Amino acid sequence: MSHIKLLSAVALSALLLLVGCGKKEGEAVGVVGDEILVGEFGSMTGNEATFGISTHQGIELAIEEINAAGGVKGKKIKLISLDDQGKPEEAVTAATKLITQDNVIALLGEVASSRSLAAAPIAQQYKIPMLSPSSTNQKVTEVGDYIFRVCFIDPFQGTVMAKFAHDHLNVKKVAVIYDVKSDYSVGLAKFFKETFTGLGGEIIAEQTYSGNDIDFKAQLTSIKTVKPEAIFIPGYYTEVGLLARQARGLGIEVPLLGGDGWDSSKLYEIGQEAIMGGYFSNHYTTDSDDPRVRQFMEAFKNKYTVFPDGLAAMGYDAAKVLADAIERSESLTPEGIRNALATTKGFAGVTGVITMDENRNPTKSAVVVQVAGTTNKYVTTIQPL
Ligand code: PHE
Repeated sequence: MSHIKLLSAVALSALLLLVGCGKKEGEAVGVVGDEILVGEFGSMTGNEATFGISTHQGIELAIEEINAAGGVKGKKIKLISLDDQGKPEEAVTAATKLITQDNVIALLGEVASSRSLAAAPIAQQYKIPMLSPSSTNQKVTEVGDYIFRVCFIDPFQGTVMAKFAHDHLNVKKVAVIYDVKSDYSVGLAKFFKETFTGLGGEIIAEQTYSGNDIDFKAQLTSIKTVKPEAIFIPGYYTEVGLLARQARGLGIEVPLLGGDGWDSSKLYEIGQEAIMGGYFSNHYTTDSDDPRVRQFMEAFKNKYTVFPDGLAAMGYDAAKVLADAIERSESLTPEGIRNALATTKGFAGVTGVITMDENRNPTKSAVVVQVAGTTNKYVTTIQPL
């Protein structure tokens, strides 16, 4: 009897110890003294380096403002940033390291959908909330209940550009060329095609390429023979810039259209005159009189000497939405923050008002802008469907 009693007493204290440890550990994730650790991973180098750099600058500015205003829950946010070089496998490595070695409480990233899709299962597995500033592919947040974003999604973005081509440019026959290696590009091409044909338009040519390609002449030559009235290129700026030059070089003069992947100061640098006048959908425009946007633009310009692009604005909003969730969270735990993120409602960001729906996606409007050299000209705003 006493033997059994002794055993259960040992078992009980072991259990208590475990529970005690577990609780302490739970509370300690991502908190060191008076700092809350937040991880960021993005393409700071590589073909999409401006995505990672701009986003990082937006995040940095937001965190500086948050900390200057006293931080969250009486603590300062400390950002740990890793470069994934624009490679999905490096995004996995970065997310894993941030979670298992740096012990972050939440993740900000990635920009590109393929890299968010690669890293999201890691965040989900460890139950660390991940908030993507600007991955628009529908599947990203479907990975699990710890994955969020602050941008609109591609079923909407594809519709925006299809309607714009049909209603605004009044074109009926369009060619599409997209990157088969990019989930973003594949998805956006699909939704554009669906809506455009639904509106009575026709997709008269469909061509593909692979990210990092530099020669698109074969595909463009084939597109040229069917004489489209416009070409939709849902890719990233490096390939889009090259594609535009080669299209013009082959004598294709019709309007070029794209999505948010065009948003880079490098687009014009690479595409030059060939990309001038092209239209793309985006999350934000610097042609805004919203005082909040003007204030953000000024603060950004003061810190970095350039005006913020869409990526910077999305990074800024992502960091502020996360800080808001940390502040509202019942406990300083990844789970608490996840629950607070899920109930984000009416958050006034510089890219619009952010309310998470039941699938952890916000419903927001999009803008269409026109490439006018290194800056883009605001054309129109398209409200959510
Ligand atoms: N939406 C793109 C993607 O999902 C990334 C991107 C966002 C690029 C905003 C530029 C500007 O891959």
